[in-house]
Formats: sequence, structure tokens, C-alpha cells
Amino acid sequence: MKSKMVAPSSALLSGALLVLSQLTSAFYLPGVAPTSYKPGDLVSLNVNSVKPVAAQRDSLLHSVMSYDYYNEKFHFCQPENGPQYVSESLGSILFGDRIMTSPFELHMAQNETCKQLCEATYDRFSAHFVNKRILKGYALNWLVDGLPAGQQIVDELTQTTFYSPGFALGYTSIGESDPEVFFNNHYDILVEYHEVSGQADQLRVVGVIVQPSSKSYDGDADCGDHSPVVLSEGKEAETRVKFTYSVYWTKSETAWATRWDKYLHVFDPKIHWFSLVNSAVVVIFLTVTVTSVLFRALKKDIARYNRLDSINLEDLSGTSALEDGVQEDSGWKLVHGDVFRTPSHPLLLSVFLGNGAQLFVITGFTICFALLGFLSPSNRGSLGTIIMFLYTLLSFIGGYVSSRTYKSLGGEKWKLNIALTPILVPGIVFSTFFLLNLFLWANNASGAVPFTTMLVIIAIWFVISVPLSVAGSWLGFRARPVEPPVRTNQIPRQIPPTTTYLKPVPSMLLVGILPFGAIFVELYFIMSSIWFSKIYYMFGFLFLCYGLMIITCAAVTVLMVYFLLCAENYHWQWRSFLAAGMSAGYIFANALIYLVSKLQLSGVSGIVLYTGYSALISFLFFILTGSIGFFSSWWFVHKIYGSIKID
Ligand SMILES: *[C@@H]1O[C@H](CO)[C@@H](O)[C@H](O)[C@H]1NC(C)=O
Repeated sequence: MKSKMVAPSSALLSGALLVLSQLTSAFYLPGVAPTSYKPGDLVSLNVNSVKPVAAQRDSLLHSVMSYDYYNEKFHFCQPENGPQYVSESLGSILFGDRIMTSPFELHMAQNETCKQLCEATYDRFSAHFVNKRILKGYALNWLVDGLPAGQQIVDELTQTTFYSPGFALGYTSIGESDPEVFFNNHYDILVEYHEVSGQADQLRVVGVIVQPSSKSYDGDADCGDHSPVVLSEGKEAETRVKFTYSVYWTKSETAWATRWDKYLHVFDPKIHWFSLVNSAVVVIFLTVTVTSVLFRALKKDIARYNRLDSINLEDLSGTSALEDGVQEDSGWKLVHGDVFRTPSHPLLLSVFLGNGAQLFVITGFTICFALLGFLSPSNRGSLGTIIMFLYTLLSFIGGYVSSRTYKSLGGEKWKLNIALTPILVPGIVFSTFFLLNLFLWANNASGAVPFTTMLVIIAIWFVISVPLSVAGSWLGFRARPVEPPVRTNQIPRQIPPTTTYLKPVPSMLLVGILPFGAIFVELYFIMSSIWFSKIYYMFGFLFLCYGLMIITCAAVTVLMVYFLLCAENYHWQWRSFLAAGMSAGYIFANALIYLVSKLQLSGVSGIVLYTGYSALISFLFFILTGSIGFFSSWWFVHKIYGSIKID
């Protein structure tokens, strides 16, 4: 029944998706200007770090650490004068790219078969290391003219072929408990090239596939059929391996502008649409219900309060009416003298809120940039660079919001507020990042951010970000604080005991799950793109999901605050922040479930890294959603107390 109803609409939606994807592809900004080659010109082949992907035997991820291509234990052939780093953007380095030159020589449009590279000797330690990486499903990442060398994969569901970046370091025999491990030492490099408007001397690279294979050469390295290479781990064992490659060029109709399309494969768009429509329906239903119920209740309340008020005023001597009024006067109006009382720890709250506002704007801008195609994967590392850039610039907003909120909440330690806003949250993030990096350093993994890059980040932070934040804070303190519409009483009111579901923990759990539900499916795809090194390119979905999440977050928090105030509990500030922020708790729990179900990390450092990064992301998300919850509640509280008359 349900599926029947979904079918036609999903067809429509896939159509819309197609149009959408074509629109976005028209927007690809050229990451680099196209390079045209003449036949025979040398085309660069650079190597990137060796990264783990899902292992072929069980589709699970076994590691989260990547290694330098020229890590000595791999014994890969080096160019004559030693490998050189190719310059990269900051974002690219932060996201784990380590691009270096290679000894491979590719001549445009010239097929070459069986070219020999170096010969390497694997002692048992190297052999053990490499075999372990093969078992864990590591993949090599090459870039030919900036295009990642991939494997061709057929999507079973849609029967379309696409390229998945990276190709296997080796392979294993299937279906045995103790599988044999084979090492790939021959590469068939298939490059597609395109003639620019039919001119034979303007050729561009538009597709790269590498088919690796394993050939154990006894005598000549002739690239014929040989038994596969096994790196022996026995005592005193040494395995000599010759590396060879062939290059085949084929002409293609794909234009340079669309050469990335094959890499940007959306797995099963129906799932995205289905989940999106699902959560959209839930969210809209929820929001409409919340607003209409709330509206009606509030209207009634406000009318009653104001009527009682006028009765009291008209009939001052009528004790019965006054008694009546006191009796009727219940609910959220009762706490009008306390609702704008300064919450506990206003400093911490306002610092979080400032940073939350900053994150909110950063996320919005980043997703918009992504929608416009700025983050197309042809701009390597553009995501990291843009986030760094926006973070630095928008410190100003963080400072402004933090100080103005602090002043409005009645805080007095304004110097501390100015100092903590640009230090506390970034400090937590940076020190966690630094600690996790120590783990990577200890494991000699290439994901470790180089020390100089760390220094650059600290420099940017203190030289640009902190002054901007201080300037924002100064303006925030100069600005008029947000005046509460009602006066606060001298003596705090007693808070009656609340029902179970309004207690802090249950209310947090209830409120947090809804925003999480709005982004759940998209989150799954983002996680698999982070940990399985897949390209994420569904920013349209992400944009809609983010919008839905904001609406849900605001709506449920406001509802909770209304109930809270009706129960005469006026501690709404921290409660709204924590309740909305709880969706980050669900995100973290989800990450842990993902760890158990999709990853099979062996070793402590892998697990520490994974949980560390997940905790970091969840923490940022906590501040983001918490701030959304707080500010929508603040607005709401202002509105309702602004619309009643209080003598
Ligand atoms: C190069 O090899 C490819 C694939 O085998 C083939 O289609 C193409 O015609 C060859 N080109 C030349 C110039 O021989």
C-alpha cells in the first residue's frame, strides 16, 4: 500500500533530481584551469596517501589511519631525484591529502605496454606490514592530471557504471578463514582523453582507471600471465618484487567540464528522497501541530490574563473578583517576575551561544557554497579551506553574539566574556585535535597534520580570529542589550515539583531525538564518506535536511519551554540549550553504533581516533543545536511575556 503510493512520486522526484544534478554540474567551478596536451606530452601522475577503504572480503572498514605513499615499508618505486611534495591548500592537508611526485611516465595518447620500474626487496617486517594493510583493505590513490585514478564499478541497482577513487593495494583469496594475501605489482593504467573541438593537438585527460594485478616474475618482467606475488613473512625470508605498468589511451566523448561526473555517483537517490520526504512530512506535521496548539493555547491564555487584569483594575474593591482572579491566574504568567532572571553560569552559556551562532552561520554558508559548486571535488580540500576561512572571518559574529547575549542575560564579568569567547570552544577543539594527532604521529600515519601546519593554524587563530572576535565583543557590549518586556522580582519564586517528563533528563531525551531524526539518513551517508573515503556530493539533500533540522529543533524546544513555564519552572535558559543540544548525544550514540556495525577496528589507536573525532563533531553539533534551541526559546519567551499586561 505504502510502496504503491511512493512509486509515482519517487519517479517524479528522481526526474527532479536529474534536472537538479545537471543544474549543479553547469556550476562546477574549474578547480584548476584545464590543461591541454599535444600527443606525446608528459602527463603528470602524482601519488596521494594510502587510505583504508572497505575490505573486499567483508565490506567492513578495518582501520582509520592512512599512510604516506613513500612510507619505507611499502617499498614503492621513487622518482630519480626523490619524491617531491606537490603544493596543496591548507584544507587539503587538514583532510589528509599528501600529494607527491612519482616515477610513472605517461605520454599523451601513446600506448605503452610493460614499462619497468624499480625492483624492491621486502624483508619479513615490511612483508608483514604490507600484508596486514592488504587484509585491512587499503587502497592506493593516484592523481593523473588532477583526476583520481579509480576503479570502474557497476551500481547493481541502477545498472550505471561509475568510478570510485582508489584501487586495491592487493587482494586476498576468498572464502577461507586464513586467506592468502597477494600483492599488486603491475598496473594497467587506462586513460581517457578528449579532443578539444576535434583538434588533434589539444588533448585533455577526462578519465583514469587503474587495473592492478599481481605477477610474480621469475626472470624477465614481461607482464605476461604469472602466478601472483606472495610477500613471505617467514623467518629470514626476503621477497624480491619487480614493478611494471602499461598505459592505454582511449578517445572519449566526455568533455573536460564534465569529467568529474562519473565520480559523483549518488548511490540510490530514492533512499535520499524517501527519507527526505519522510522527515519533511513528519517535521511539517509536527511544526504545524506545535504552532497551532501553541497559538490557540497562548491566545486563550493571553486573553484570559488580560481580561482578569481589566477586571482587577475596574473592580478594585470587589474582593470576590480579586479572589477569583488569583485563583484563575495560573500557568506561565505566574513566573513573569522570574522568567528573565539571570540564569546560573551566564558566562559559560553566553560563550557557548556566541560560538553556536558562529557555527550556525558557518554551516549555512558552507552548504550554500557547496550548492553553488564551490566544493566540487575538483577543488581539492576546498571544504577544509572554506571552513577555516569562514571560521576565521565569522569570529566577529561569535564575539558580538556572545557579548550581547551576556549583557542581556545580566552578566557582569565582561572582560572574561571577551577573553573566553574566542578561546574556550576553539581551544577545546584544537587541543582534542592535537591529542588525536599525537596518536597518528605515534603510528607514523600520514593523516597526522604536519607540525608546521599546526603552527599556521595557531597563527591564524591568534592573529586574525581572536582580534576579530574581540572587536565583535566590543561592539556587542556597546549595543543596547535586549530588554526584557517584564520586570524581574527581587525574590526568586519557589519552583513546584514537576512531572516526570519535564525533569531535565527525560525532557532532553525527548526533545533531542527529533532534530536527530531529521538528519539521520544524510548523516549515514556523510559518515560513510568520511570513513570510507567516498566522495560526498549530495549537498542539495544536505541543504534541505539542515533546514528541516533547524525547524524541528526550534519547534520542539519552544514546545518544551512552554510546558516548562506552564509548570511554573522558569529555568528555561539552560534547559532549552541542553535539550536541543541533546541531539548531539544521539549523533554520538549513532557514531558508536556505526563503530560496532560497520567498522572492525583492531587496535586501541583506531578506536581512540574514531571516538575522538566523533566526540569532537558531536561537541560542535551540541553547541550548534543548543544555540538554535536557546535563541528560538528566547524569542518565544519575549513574545509571550511581551503580549500580556502586567500591573
Ligand atoms: C591504445 O590502447 C587502447 C586500448 O587497448 C586502444 O583502444 C587504442 O586504439 C590504442 N591506441 C593506439 C594509438 O594504439
